[in-house]
Amino acid sequence: MSLESPFKADILKGKVALITGGGSGIGFEISTQFGKHGASVAIMGRRKQVLDAAVSALRSLGIKAVGFEGDVRRQEHAKKVVESTFEHFGKLDILVNAAAGNFLVSAEDLSPNGFRTVMDIDSVGTFTMCHEALKYLKKGGPGRSSAGGGSILNISATLHYTASWYQIHVAAAKAAVDAITRNLALEWGADYDIRVNGIAPGPIGDTPGMNKLAPDEINSKARDYMPLYKLGEKWDIAMAALYLTSDTGKYVNGTTLIVDGGLWLSRPRHLPKDAVKQLSRTVEKRSRDKPIGVPKSKL
Ligand code: COA
Repeated sequence: MSLESPFKADILKGKVALITGGGSGIGFEISTQFGKHGASVAIMGRRKQVLDAAVSALRSLGIKAVGFEGDVRRQEHAKKVVESTFEHFGKLDILVNAAAGNFLVSAEDLSPNGFRTVMDIDSVGTFTMCHEALKYLKKGGPGRSSAGGGSILNISATLHYTASWYQIHVAAAKAAVDAITRNLALEWGADYDIRVNGIAPGPIGDTPGMNKLAPDEINSKARDYMPLYKLGEKWDIAMAALYLTSDTGKYVNGTTLIVDGGLWLSRPRHLPKDAVKQLSRTVEKRSRDKPIGVPKSKL
């Protein structure tokens, strides 16, 4: 399969994007694709070495990139990184909240502090970044015309649509992220012309998340229980991100796009396809011969 982008190379021309967690995994792929489509890119992360390596990789592709160290759990870091992005590039058009924390743990073994840590990174961190970026993203904000606001993209998950083993902390955190997406889309869409959307990725190969949640030891076993299991690529998420944050998605606001190959709908098949036809006919016939609910004496 070709991993060429189907989008024009200039759909983000002149835009400035700040991507938290932009130094690795899905965040890095989004940074790369944004850069390849014309954006200048600021990436935020906690580890200097990871940031430095990511920035040089982006620059080697001819992308205008800069890295800022910071932890989304710290409001002063969030404020400083947003301000530094503005100082460096002169404006801010797109904020992507891709920073996340995760580990497998049973609810019973998870300490309240472990639960809080993931809530702090994923949910509070997302809100904090949005809060600090608002000033720059709103229409008429510094570096912006009064013609339009910027956009926000929150990386979520599908874990909380049903329930997920050993992921109570992340499921709770991403449920909050989705609520943040919708509420900000409503308030900031109306007040400031800012679009706020999300992406809920399925299992994406070659990411820190997959390495932690589906290490090789459990990978093949997990697949047996997931009929629609198909590994996605970081590219799949980055293309969705381009759609949602560029003008191609200009009428999309408050939605979280599921990009998981349908995995969250998966159920084990309880009956083979060939058997269902025969069984169904047999059941029909039986119920015609003896309608359900009609006592035997009335037949
Ligand atoms: N199982 C159970 N509890 C765990 C755990 C695990 N694997 N890893 C961390 N915790 C608990 C700790 O025990 C601690 O709780 P306690 O004080 O009650 O003991 C709490 O979580 C915080 O851990 P700590 O290591 O101090 O946090 P940190 O801020 O250094 O790291 C994490 C944050 C734990 C989320 C870390 O995994 C991380 O930095 N992740 C970022 C990268 C990532 O997860 N990427 C995947 C994205 S999908």
